[in-house]
Amino acid sequence: MAKRRLLLIVPAVAAIFTAGTALAASHAAASAAAPRAAPMAAAPAAANTPATASGPPVVTPDPYRDGSEQAGAAKATMCFACHGPNGNSVSPVFPRLAGQNAVYIVEQLHLFRAGIRQNPMMAAMAAGLSDQDIDNLAVFFAAQTPTGLTADPTLWQAGQALYLSGDRKHDIPACVACHGPTGQGNPAAGYPALRAQQSAYVVAQLQNYANGTRYSGPNPKTAAPNSIMMFTIAKRLSPAQMQAVASYVQGLR
Ligand code: HEC
Ligand code: HEC
Repeated sequence: MAKRRLLLIVPAVAAIFTAGTALAASHAAASAAAPRAAPMAAAPAAANTPATASGPPVVTPDPYRDGSEQAGAAKATMCFACHGPNGNSVSPVFPRLAGQNAVYIVEQLHLFRAGIRQNPMMAAMAAGLSDQDIDNLAVFFAAQTPTGLTADPTLWQAGQALYLSGDRKHDIPACVACHGPTGQGNPAAGYPALRAQQSAYVVAQLQNYANGTRYSGPNPKTAAPNSIMMFTIAKRLSPAQMQAVASYVQGLR
């Protein structure tokens, strides 16, 4: 499974980073790499390959095949205190999980549990989860509908322009290529959804990528299978661009 996903991801990365701002090419590559949960679930289970040559292996089981939404629902109530009812957080410091890709949720929970993505609250939460709990929780949250939240009217237009077209002058690719026209991400590739995400959280994560602190450990830039792309992109964003695009995705559905 991990192998198949890596193969899918390679063309998108190559299109964006070898051809610079080849935005049209990146669109094409991203849509070519967008089969969803169903074909993925049908694929034969390949041996898990470590995501990086020298970093700790990131386990990426297939939650769409292995997870139980019902079992996840029972466990998820303890997440609601921070992440809100069904993952629709009310407080801007807590990311929304409703409608997030299961593959991405699994990866992040493994990274929290391994202490690579560091956050005291999530370290405590993830420590008590088994691999099966993680798969169950991931498919539960992926199946929830993101609700509420709108874009800041003074910021979203600039954010939309950046999201849809990128910024050629600063070699910033369009976010839509990987995060999708409605901010749904790319579930098969594990690219996260951004729609209805808390803008304060989005800005915080863009800053974490830009200053290299999103992950720790021996290879923080390659700790997650595809994270290198965001480290590169976020560095090129100005604070105003981060704010604008975060406001836009908060209103996206
Ligand atoms: C005490 C509050 C708290 C609880 C309870 C909690 N979380 Fe979190 N969670 C957070 C915070 C804060 C973050 C953001 C961490 C950061 O900024 O890196 C987070 C981040 C996450 C992320 C990453 C989201 C993303 O978009 O990258 C996932 C996945 C997650 N939590 C899942 C869970 C699950 C599943 C549970 C229940 C088992 C849970 N959390 C319970 C506070 C909490
Ligand atoms: C080439 C594909 C690609 C492009 C283009 C891209 N992203 Fe990403 N983005 C990703 C991937 C993959 C991740 C997950 C990385 C990881 O695992 O840490 C991600 C993660 C993120 C996150 C963290 C989400 C969370 O829940 O914590 C934010 C925020 C984000 N991207 C915003 C943007 C914005 C804004 C743009 C446009 C300026 C953009 N991305 C362009 C692939 C991309």
